Amino acid sequence: MQVIKEYMQRAYESGLLPDEFICYGKQGNLVEIEEEGTGIRRTVLTFCTNDVLGLVQNQAVQQAAIDAILQYGTSNSSCSVLSGRIDLHQQLEDEISAFKHLSHTQLFLNAWMAMQALMDAYCHQAISVPGFQNTRETLILTDVLNHGCIVSAIANADTRSGKLFGHSPRVRVRAYRHCNMDDLARKLQRYARPGDRIMLVSDAVFSMDGDIAPLPTMIDILSKYEGSVLVMDEAHASGAIGATGRGIYEYFNILPQDVIARGIAPVIMTTFSKFAASAGAAISTHVAELKPLLNLSPTSIGTISLPAPTTAAALESIRQVRQHPELVQRLQENTRYLRSRLIEHDFDVIGETNVIPVFCRQNLIRNTLPAR
Ligand SMILES: Cc1ncc(COP(=O)(O)O)c(C=O)c1O
Repeated sequence: MQVIKEYMQRAYESGLLPDEFICYGKQGNLVEIEEEGTGIRRTVLTFCTNDVLGLVQNQAVQQAAIDAILQYGTSNSSCSVLSGRIDLHQQLEDEISAFKHLSHTQLFLNAWMAMQALMDAYCHQAISVPGFQNTRETLILTDVLNHGCIVSAIANADTRSGKLFGHSPRVRVRAYRHCNMDDLARKLQRYARPGDRIMLVSDAVFSMDGDIAPLPTMIDILSKYEGSVLVMDEAHASGAIGATGRGIYEYFNILPQDVIARGIAPVIMTTFSKFAASAGAAISTHVAELKPLLNLSPTSIGTISLPAPTTAAALESIRQVRQHPELVQRLQENTRYLRSRLIEHDFDVIGETNVIPVFCRQNLIRNTLPAR
């Protein structure tokens, strides 16, 4: 532990570690926090939450979670293939399938597990089956600024389940420049070999830059590679972009079915920690056979299923979004308002969504932070 102690000492001294505040209560966007050094409690306005539609404190959502606890208890106490599957899972999967226009949906505890399961299932078919042998390699194209859950899952794709549970062929990963479609097309041309299974994976809304993936161009490029897979991580897109919050496809007025018609298999990951007042993630596809395979993947079969109150809160949130599109419209109006006011006041703002990165120059930070 000596290295850890010395490392942490240097990290504290360098001031690189973020401040942590403990929250003692929430009312809307007001939170009661305690200052670490002084123990003083203050009520402040927070801009740091992902509760973008304000559904965490919606009465119907809270009641759904309470009712679910009363009906099923606080945990399912098992993975879904053993005895952990409850009726609410099915309802939530159906609701997401309808929301995303993709008929088969599988739930996971969070985005990291969902993305890992997708890579395990797609690249390595989760479990080896007697008499079946895949001989085709996988080529994955990934935006350099994709979220960590994607980076981690594709880094594991060549080493994890494939090596542990089977003998599937290699997975090759190539990163392309952020949202640069010329670079994507070039990399595909350079690295795709005959017989490859091709997967393109991208954040729909980039979590640190707040910009939107150029979906129409991605589809045009992929349509030259029959049978390729297009994975969109809609963590920040669901409930936020598109006229009714259905995400990137609605934003660009495209249906997943249009993509299927062009020989591409669309896959969408939805998460519940942002718009849906909960936690958890889902993978949606039009391919029925992918769903049971996802369920057999290590990050599904080897862990607990989504607890009832978490599932119920997400389910009710999606229903609220479908019944109240004005929630999404308000978020989009607020986004435009905040962005325009920040720009008016000379803040350095990038992106175009409710993820609003503001560059803080060193001298600005020094001049505005209270002395400690
Ligand atoms: C693009 C993206 N994917 C995945 C995640 C992880 O989602 P979760 O925390 O709901 O598992 C995030 C979280 O910020 C994200 O921005």
